[in-house]
Amino acid sequence: MSTDLIEEFHTLLSGEKIDHYQVFDQLRQGLPIFYSEPMDGWVVSRWNDVSRVLKSNEEFEPMEAGAGSSGIYGRTILHMTGEEHRKKSAILAKRLRNPRKLNGEISTLVKLIVKSCGDKLKWAPHSVDIKQEFTSIIPLEVIGDLMAMQEATAFPNWYHNIVAASVSNVTGDPEIHRRGMKAREELFEWLDPAIEKKKQCPTQDLFSDLCSIEFESEMLTEEEIKSFCAFLLSAGIETTDRALVNLFRELIRHPSEWKKLQNDKSLIPSAIAEILRFRAPVQGAVRKTINNADFYGEYIPEGAKIMCLLGSANHDPEVFENPNEFRVDRYASNQRAQFTPAGDNRAFGGGSHFCTGSLVAKLEMEEALKYALNNFSSIEFADEIPEMKGFYLRSPENLKVNLTPASHLR
Ligand code: HEM
Repeated sequence: MSTDLIEEFHTLLSGEKIDHYQVFDQLRQGLPIFYSEPMDGWVVSRWNDVSRVLKSNEEFEPMEAGAGSSGIYGRTILHMTGEEHRKKSAILAKRLRNPRKLNGEISTLVKLIVKSCGDKLKWAPHSVDIKQEFTSIIPLEVIGDLMAMQEATAFPNWYHNIVAASVSNVTGDPEIHRRGMKAREELFEWLDPAIEKKKQCPTQDLFSDLCSIEFESEMLTEEEIKSFCAFLLSAGIETTDRALVNLFRELIRHPSEWKKLQNDKSLIPSAIAEILRFRAPVQGAVRKTINNADFYGEYIPEGAKIMCLLGSANHDPEVFENPNEFRVDRYASNQRAQFTPAGDNRAFGGGSHFCTGSLVAKLEMEEALKYALNNFSSIEFADEIPEMKGFYLRSPENLKVNLTPASHLR
């Protein structure tokens, strides 16, 4: 029984299986921890276990740089622990979690970008791929602007190939790895003179912060600046793009939820938290054991890799009522916490490595949804419902829709 279930789980890695959540339900019930050979690590699926692995810094720590799925970036904030992590993540948070900047210049920037992409979308009977023309452009331009790195974001192959060779390359395909390493080399070559320039003349942007800010006498090394940039270009773009595609896909599949939002726009933040719970775009986070660890009497050896299934944790019925229902008002009374480590939603991870960009992602998603609710009276699939693809990063590859304008635009 357990061998069959493990085999079924492995079909998810190749993308053959369509309904991941059905397999996750079985894992949580009957096989909450198991060893996966292709992943070369142990897999946990229950909310409690995922939360324990992410939050207990005494028992678990990040994989070392170069190992595991995020090795391609080099050594980033994800690999750091303790005081070094606290200080270097403060350098990132100074801009990305600063309420004054988020409510001020970042909000203005996001609104402008959303409007400029949205106003170019064509109305039915033309169909439009909103992944290509809306959801992927918004985070690309926002990160490009925040980092003052429009040139780097003009080469999407760089970060697409880097992302593909990192978390998405679950089984370590050598060709995907080669393409990723080549893209990394090209990006790093572009970064060398750019860093030099920023160090001499820092301006008001995230890239300048990385190059010049000192926090409690800690600064990033040149190698770290490059790795952080590569990581931010991927972590800040592809994640939000996929989250937005998942949002529109589910809203089209659930017209009553779209209606609820049209009638009550105050539910927008709750809807964003809910789509991240219901269809987490980042499905996994990896750690390793510091000592032997005990899960249900199973001893996991010291130094073993553990894969936390974030999407599965988000569907654990022990924590979420009717977890397989998509309800835009689920978080109406506690949406704010879901974008901080205090929430029960694991889409942004948990513990000290909780996503630094969660508030920027929230802002982008809220503005994109607000734009859609204000400007589209309806949104429908142009073809069949697009399938969810991918294991670690999960969303449809495109989303062709027919849009009908709101009455004030007709
Ligand atoms: C919906 C969009 C996003 C999702 C679902 C997401 C998800 C995640 C997850 C699951 C982690 C934890 C990884 C781990 O523990 O191993 C993480 C970390 C991180 N994310 Fe995001 N992310 C999103 C958007 C962003 C954006 C927009 C940025 C930057 C502008 C960003 C920057 C980061 C950083 C810097 C970390 C590392 C935090 C640390 O190690 O201390 N993310 N993200």
